Amino acid sequence: MSEASNPSLLIVDDDVGHAESLQDALEMDNYECQVVHGGAEALEVLREKAFDVVLTDLVMADVSGLDLLRESRSLHPTTPVLMITGHATIETAVDAMRQGADDYIAKPVNLPELRAKLSRAVDRARLLADHEELKLQNEDLRRQLDERFGLEGILGHSPQMQRVFQIISQVAATHATVLILGESGTGKELVARALHRSSPRVKQNFVAVNCAALSEGLIESELFGHKRGAFTGAVTEKQGRIAYADGGTLFLDEVGDMPPATQAKLLRVLESREVVQVGGHEAKKVDIRLVAATNRDLRSMVAEGSFREDLLFRLQVVTIALPPLRDRVGDLPLLLEYFVRTLAAEHGRPVTGISPEARAVLARHDWPGNVRELRNAVENMVLLAQGEALQVGDLPESVVAAGGQVRGTQLDLAGRSLAEMEEALIKANLELMEDNRERTAKVLGIGERTLYRKIKEYGLQ
Ligand SMILES: Nc1ncnc2c1ncn2[C@@H]1O[C@H](COP(=O)(O)OP(=O)(O)OP(=O)(O)O)[C@@H](O)[C@H]1O
Ligand SMILES: [Mg+2]
Repeated sequence: MSEASNPSLLIVDDDVGHAESLQDALEMDNYECQVVHGGAEALEVLREKAFDVVLTDLVMADVSGLDLLRESRSLHPTTPVLMITGHATIETAVDAMRQGADDYIAKPVNLPELRAKLSRAVDRARLLADHEELKLQNEDLRRQLDERFGLEGILGHSPQMQRVFQIISQVAATHATVLILGESGTGKELVARALHRSSPRVKQNFVAVNCAALSEGLIESELFGHKRGAFTGAVTEKQGRIAYADGGTLFLDEVGDMPPATQAKLLRVLESREVVQVGGHEAKKVDIRLVAATNRDLRSMVAEGSFREDLLFRLQVVTIALPPLRDRVGDLPLLLEYFVRTLAAEHGRPVTGISPEARAVLARHDWPGNVRELRNAVENMVLLAQGEALQVGDLPESVVAAGGQVRGTQLDLAGRSLAEMEEALIKANLELMEDNRERTAKVLGIGERTLYRKIKEYGLQ
């Protein structure tokens, strides 16, 4: 369906005179019309070809407009169907809308109203078609990016993330318990799922339990299950999440928030590979792969006595520490491209990129909420932006306000030479602007010639 072609329209009406007068009027508006005089004939035509819009009478002798609507929906899900209805059947028209008709027009047909509704339907259908296409492109994009810079939807080409991918691929196939550490929004859950998906357990369950979201009273019956009558309210027996994860992966999120008593019981399960329901006696064998995550400092929790040291030892057989976004600004261009494209497609917005100025402000932000915060910021911008490229003016207030300070502690900066700093500065900005020298010179506040000279001087080609 090309932008320039005339929209095609199927007119379905068993009143031959009415159909023809509609055809005459709409052909003047450059619709390519095909007219049929009954529902059955319409179905035949629709099985052969798709139209931009279907305009059908609701009440016909053979196949009703509603049946036609259903068939059309299943044959061509994105083609809008407009209903023409007599006054007596307004209720059926509402019903038709509920079943997926795009709009309805009451008889006698008012031509300006019909024209407006038709052109709206065509616009919507074209947007939707582009949107569907974009969604397909997005899946492609994710696959391509994954191949080059990521693993299972986790993107990153910084050395820190490459190291993370390396550990994931080394340990995924083993039974080793993995502890994932990282600030909020750094992708801990994403890594846990990637471990499961790249493991031989992939066909069994991935069971996530958020230890911070469950009250002290609830967590044990959730994890271990309970016998009927084990406590007030335990009216039926319940299988616990650990048993449910048998053969698969148990993901204990926010494990630092697990109450001490539960920690002791979990430890017993890990040591014995058996689980006992709350209020029960018999132990049941379980084979689980445990992955745990936290944004808390478990070492210092051990020191202050709120986390069991023996459990920590069990959990940290392999540790994956996810770097905060502020420490790997080199990944920003990749994440930006991915979020801008996928979120624009998801929301059907015409945004395709981001201006170098806005990119520079994003690179200066501290990102306390890490990748999640970045994704939310991009989503906000994509929804509100006016143009195709996101501008500084589209940035959320919080991001702009925080962008003023030069990051890096005085200790990082002290003892450095200007040349050293200059080289690091140029390198980081080249990376941020994906080697576009014009843009890099602009953020650095120097001329392009100067930039060329310095790139050569520092051997940054
Ligand atoms: N490297 C990445 N590439 C692509 N998307 C990412 C990456 N890291 C995180 N995300 C996205 O950011 C969001 C937050 O990720 P996730 O839920 O895994 O973080 P988390 O560390 O578990 O956060 P919290 O501690 O707040 O639970 C998700 O939408 C996730 O898809
Ligand atoms: Mg999480």
